[in-house]
Amino acid sequence: MSGASVAGRPVVVTGAGNGIGAALALEAARRGAGTVVVADIDADAADRVAAEVRAAGPSAVAACCDVTDSDALERLADELIGAHGIPALVCANAGVAAAGNPLLEGSMADARWVMEVNFFGVLATMAAFGRRIAAASQPGWLLVTGSEHSLGLPHAGAGAYTASKHAVLGLCETLRAELPAHMGVSVLCPGLTSSRLWASGTQRPDAFGGPREPHDIAKAIIERGMPAHTVAERAFDGVAEGQFVIPTHYNARAYADARASEVGAAFEALSTIDTSSWDVSEAAASVLADLDAQADAALSRPDDPTDT
Ligand SMILES: NC(=O)c1ccc[n+]([C@@H]2O[C@H](COP(=O)([O-])OP(=O)(O)OC[C@H]3O[C@@H](n4cnc5c(N)ncnc54)[C@H](O)[C@@H]3O)[C@@H](O)[C@H]2O)c1
Repeated sequence: MSGASVAGRPVVVTGAGNGIGAALALEAARRGAGTVVVADIDADAADRVAAEVRAAGPSAVAACCDVTDSDALERLADELIGAHGIPALVCANAGVAAAGNPLLEGSMADARWVMEVNFFGVLATMAAFGRRIAAASQPGWLLVTGSEHSLGLPHAGAGAYTASKHAVLGLCETLRAELPAHMGVSVLCPGLTSSRLWASGTQRPDAFGGPREPHDIAKAIIERGMPAHTVAERAFDGVAEGQFVIPTHYNARAYADARASEVGAAFEALSTIDTSSWDVSEAAASVLADLDAQADAALSRPDDPTDT
């Protein structure tokens, strides 16, 4: 599939009450989407952005939805698709920042919360909407908000966040191979973007350690980021072009290149050893071929005369 157009069709954005998600919802409106679904755990923020989307033209639905609640996502997908049809684009964007402690000193509960929202929340969003799009005949695209942290940014204090963003890149790489031909998936990998990500700890549930105070330094840094609407424009261009990884900040290339050259050098050290007979794809193909051959042989074998 070459890419997706949202013209006249529904678009769903999670974490759309602020920052990049709000900008994605408004960009969908600008590109002629039908109904834009503004989903966020913060109902007031979702209402506010839905009103901005309506002012820009299309109809908008504000949905209060916690992406860590997979049942709620399933209900939302049923309701929205029932009322507005199969979405052209689902943006699994909701995400939170980690507490900022060095990994070995950090709280396990905080790391679990980051994974719960940034990884399981993305998986549940893709499953709820993706399964329904896969079963339909209309094209649909999944856009996951990863980060430059998906590509190899070693940033002290962001260990669990970085792990969660690597995890969604891995999810999407697999999904790309599994999706039917009428679907596609992209991973948006923004660098520093102006948003309220610095305040996300104030929403941390009691089960994961409760609300935590925002850091002034994190606020000051994030406020120096790229405007969210620039990130959203790049995201929609990338989806229209059918790009898998959609970077937004050229400076992040240095991190990706450093990772790639380190991995390349490590493999270079192995280049004199032939390991090709242990290639996992070839092993899987050969096991499946053996199983097929055994099944064919069983089918063509004459009935055993001793059978009663
Ligand atoms: N700001 C950056 O520099 C930056 C860079 C790269 C990637 N990102 C990613 O962009 C995405 C959006 O973050 P942002 O920077 O716009 O932050 P933001 O805090 O401004 O917006 C995130 C929104 O997600 C909502 N949210 C949080 N937990 C939720 C949940 N469980 N269910 C539903 N909604 C929830 C929040 O209420 C908020 O409205 C995140 O995945 C983040 O990791 C941000």
